[in-house]
Amino acid sequence: MKLSLPRNKDLRGDAAWVIYQILEAGKSSRECLNIAQRRHTSKDSAWIQEMTMGVMRQLPQLQLWLRALLEQPLKGKNKIIEHLLLLGLYQLAFSRVSEHAAVSETVNACPQLGSPGLKALVNAILRRFQRENLAHQLSSDPIVASGLPKWIVKALQPHYSQEQISHIIEQTNTIAPVWLRVNQQQTTVDNFTQSLKAHNVEYRLSDDHPDAVLLLSRTDIPSLPGYIQGWFSVQDGAAQYAARYLNPQPGERILDCCAAPGGKTSHILELAPNLNACVALDNEASRLARLKENIQRLKLEATVVHADAIDTDTWWDGNLFDRILLDAPCSATGVIRRHPDIRWLRKATDIERLVSLQQTMLDKLWPLLKEGGTLLYATCSILPQENAQQISRFLARYDDAHLDAITRDETDNHPGRQILPGEQQMDGFYYARLVKSAS
Ligand SMILES: C[S@@+](CC[C@H](N)C(=O)[O-])C[C@H]1O[C@@H](n2cnc3c(N)ncnc32)[C@H](O)[C@@H]1O
Repeated sequence: MKLSLPRNKDLRGDAAWVIYQILEAGKSSRECLNIAQRRHTSKDSAWIQEMTMGVMRQLPQLQLWLRALLEQPLKGKNKIIEHLLLLGLYQLAFSRVSEHAAVSETVNACPQLGSPGLKALVNAILRRFQRENLAHQLSSDPIVASGLPKWIVKALQPHYSQEQISHIIEQTNTIAPVWLRVNQQQTTVDNFTQSLKAHNVEYRLSDDHPDAVLLLSRTDIPSLPGYIQGWFSVQDGAAQYAARYLNPQPGERILDCCAAPGGKTSHILELAPNLNACVALDNEASRLARLKENIQRLKLEATVVHADAIDTDTWWDGNLFDRILLDAPCSATGVIRRHPDIRWLRKATDIERLVSLQQTMLDKLWPLLKEGGTLLYATCSILPQENAQQISRFLARYDDAHLDAITRDETDNHPGRQILPGEQQMDGFYYARLVKSAS
């Protein structure tokens, strides 16, 4: 169904609409933030992003306050006012918005959201929150303080130490830095960073990533030098390992399965411009449209296939691949700091379904790989069920599958490299490299 905003424009009303769409309709922030931001100035759209994502990070605490302040839950068309109230409480407790504006402008958004009659209620709740100084009464419950749903914290507990979990939670609630990847087919890191300097953009290079530039300040990406010319892409440092670990060679046939929006496809093409074929496959048309835009801007070319990876009969031409990248659909628990809404969109019950989908994908793609070929399995998850346990079971099922270790301490029982969020400023990611021997 097409998403539609309230007819009149209102900064706080539009922010409440985004929060409502994520929490009540299960829409991703990518889908609804863009729609809301489009009709605002860049300053206001940055405000909407900051406030809505702030609400996602602090939701358990905000809901606790709201439950104490609101005698009865709101229903029907008034439900959205609960989300406006969450926004109001967030502004008062966690933002630098002046208290006066936080109360009066939030109250004034009620008519735009179709509930003019609730202005007095919103006003009374926000004023009581101020009067009773509730912003200083934070819950001591560690789950509430984590800003995460209980199921995620519980899912981490069997696999990580308390110290690691505290660190993951802390990192998950920070704002992720912006990493760029220089397109070495169009420019060099040296040239690109010279032009960043000329535009007074602060950055750092990375010891581990030859193409990476880590920005040290918030910047409007399309206004950076070389954006239109395709000099760089935005891609987290952890994701920049994918093409390097895959190690594509000239003349090879590569399959990038689950490719959209093309961050890793384009890196593969930048590293190996003389491939025999690079098939970029995904089952979501709208994401493939973004992949096409991205590789076009970067002046690269791939064979784009819209298909379900599992139905190999419908899309595979029978020619084996030298290398396959399977960037599998996953819980995305490693990238929550970058997409704070994920924590509320994913449900505990999703994990079992994802683990089974990943297993089916591995089983369906393995026969498409040549003998001696490499399959790189990647997720942006930090849950071992989707990562080391998945690959360990795969190695036990297939006699012709062997681990090609990325790190020194990998074994068949503990395969792959698990990167935790915040490690060297990167997102949480997992990689395992498998090689096919003669069967
Ligand atoms: C982690 S994202 C891929 C990110 C991408 N590799 C990049 O670097 O930009 C996972 C992708 O898997 C796709 N996907 C999920 N199920 C699929 C299926 N059954 N067949 C093909 N693609 C699928 C999703 O549409 C999504 O684009």
